[in-house]
Amino acid sequence: MHEAGPSSWRNPWIRWSVVSLVTLTVLSVLVGFVWLPSVHGDFTAQGLWASICRAAGVPSTWGGTSPAGAANVPQATNVVLERSMVRAAGSTAVGRGATLALNCTMCHGAQGMSGSSAPNLAGQYPEVVIKQLEDYKAGKRASPIMEALAKNLSERDIADLAAYYAYLPKARTAPTTYDESLPALVRVGAPLRNIAPCISCHGGVDQKLGAPWIEGMPKDYLVAQLLAFRKGERRNDSQAQMRNVVRAMTDAEIDEVSAFYARKASAGER
Ligand code: HEC
Ligand code: HEC
Repeated sequence: MHEAGPSSWRNPWIRWSVVSLVTLTVLSVLVGFVWLPSVHGDFTAQGLWASICRAAGVPSTWGGTSPAGAANVPQATNVVLERSMVRAAGSTAVGRGATLALNCTMCHGAQGMSGSSAPNLAGQYPEVVIKQLEDYKAGKRASPIMEALAKNLSERDIADLAAYYAYLPKARTAPTTYDESLPALVRVGAPLRNIAPCISCHGGVDQKLGAPWIEGMPKDYLVAQLLAFRKGERRNDSQAQMRNVVRAMTDAEIDEVSAFYARKASAGER
């Protein structure tokens, strides 16, 4: 009864478990290393290692340089967001920020409310302004105008500008709150396509640290940013949070959610 080796192979249970284990392993390797990279451009753009780390939610570099190879393409952000960036700054910072902001009014508006397709900055979370300016400065977010301007800003300038804009009243559009009338993608996302609801990060259900206030932003700006994330031209969102959201969105959906967030306040709202 207790013969070793060959006899256990004759046992159909053992034989089949070994065969199915091998088949399953081969299949998962094919799916993970061949099929997924072939359908998702983003998988290969940043390298396999980055994808594995992203899926596991750990940083892909522990010191050293990033394995991502592509030159010319802005690389992922390296700004670490901290709660302390959110703390209200003193009035000296706000005052100094207001003076520096005179260089920004041409595009971002006298009160941080843009009249063109540049983003509003009034009431923006300070950690967002800090992170975005750091990313422009480091070339992690591409914009010829903003990269040139940010290069001349010191750490203190950036902190003071952020304090000033955070102090201005927010875009005159009411915050989004959960209710059945919201567009489906905003309210519940599309679980089958792996699209998380916007309100789970941009306010409404939760406001994740680093997710900008987007209510009342110019529609053209919102569409342009979402398309840039989808094409992978903008890749400064840590852990590819936004790229993962828009990857499966259609042009019509991008238009719909942008129109929704760009809405202006109705009379009486602020
Ligand atoms: C000549 C026009 C112009 C000027 C002047 C300008 N900006 Fe901008 N800014 C833009 C445009 C356009 C964008 C969007 C660029 C993009 O697509 O990434 C932008 C983006 C930004 C963002 C990112 C906002 C977000 O929601 O992601 C910040 C922060 C910002 N600017 C701050 C400033 C500050 C501070 C100054 C003054 C020191 C300034 N800008 C001056 C045109 C300008
Ligand atoms: C998992 C959280 C998450 C979800 C879900 C999410 N976002 Fe974002 N979004 C972010 C973060 C974080 C950023 C800032 C990225 C960065 O650091 O540059 C961002 C940035 C953006 C920007 C760029 C704004 C600017 O001023 O630079 C737009 C537009 C945007 N999101 C729209 C949406 C829309 C529309 C949805 C729903 C379809 C959505 N987001 C869902 C986390 C999320």
